[in-house]
Amino acid sequence: MSEQIFEKVKEVLSQIQEAQPASPEELEAFRIKYLGSKNSIKPLFAEMRNIPNEQKKEFGQKLNELKKTAEAKFAQLKDGLGSTTSKSSAQAIDMTVPVGSLDIGSRHPVSLVLNHMIDVFTRIGFSVAEDREIEDDWHNFTAMNTPEHHPARDMQDTFYLKDSTSMLLRTHTSSVQARMMTAHEPPIRIIAPGRVFRNETISARSHCQFHQVEGLYVDEGVSFADMKQTLLYFAKEMYGAETDIRLRPSYFPFTEPSAEMDVWLGTETETTRKLTKGTGWLEVLGCGMVDPNVLENCGIDSKKYSGYAFGIGIERSAMQKYNISDIRMLFENDTRFLSQFTAAF
Ligand code: DAH
Repeated sequence: MSEQIFEKVKEVLSQIQEAQPASPEELEAFRIKYLGSKNSIKPLFAEMRNIPNEQKKEFGQKLNELKKTAEAKFAQLKDGLGSTTSKSSAQAIDMTVPVGSLDIGSRHPVSLVLNHMIDVFTRIGFSVAEDREIEDDWHNFTAMNTPEHHPARDMQDTFYLKDSTSMLLRTHTSSVQARMMTAHEPPIRIIAPGRVFRNETISARSHCQFHQVEGLYVDEGVSFADMKQTLLYFAKEMYGAETDIRLRPSYFPFTEPSAEMDVWLGTETETTRKLTKGTGWLEVLGCGMVDPNVLENCGIDSKKYSGYAFGIGIERSAMQKYNISDIRMLFENDTRFLSQFTAAF
């Protein structure tokens, strides 16, 4: 007698396990059959009295297993049917709901400033010339009037390629001047934006990689006054119409005379005080008249032609513009930082 009842329980268990309701209606029928108020498991509980005492515990466990299996199966089927049957998935998607905004990324602050500078200079007739980051000694130093053992080489701590004394990571974009002047006849009017490298200790103010925009104009009769006016225009476009500049005498091997240009930022905010070391003046570029030796090194007649050149650092301008007080943030690629910048260029 009890064996038959155990058999019956087994049968119902396999029926539950094998049931395959394929529509919400069939699923509802499954629910009514095994979990409803008149479900087919209930009568089995009534059989308890026919079970001998020593088997009652085992029987009770089997019935519970039956109930649990039915509940679990129902929950699983409900989820499955909700997402796979064509009818219910059509109901689940509302085509009229507006889509969420896409994460389309943002431009790096260095790119924003670089693009702004390119825009300013191309408007007055400069073309963009880009060249290699791995350079040879000649274009980076020798052609730029900085021969071997020249003390100015120590001004820029150079990364040489492994086992090489002549191949290096360019220390400035001035190497592009040599590339352009050896390949083209004047008039030459270019800007050369790009990344440069120096073996410097990394700190809040300096890094071993940064960006410059080189400028070069070579033609007949180019004067220092031309350069000054061009750079004043640049400063006003970049930093605002009220911007003041000052040119301080300086030294670079490739220009004579040479100067450094500062723009007035003031000392009002913490960032401007930090960037200007408390003076209010931010040094933004080096410039000068192209040294005749440089023209001759590159095969240009220095009696006929003259030129001016300048090299602008990008990072400091980006830091000033966006109130960034630590240059390292520009190279960490932390998207929480980068996603704050919205593109104007
Ligand atoms: N190459 C210089 C540097 O990296 C910057 C520079 C100064 C570039 C004067 C020029 C220039 O073209 O005329 O520090």
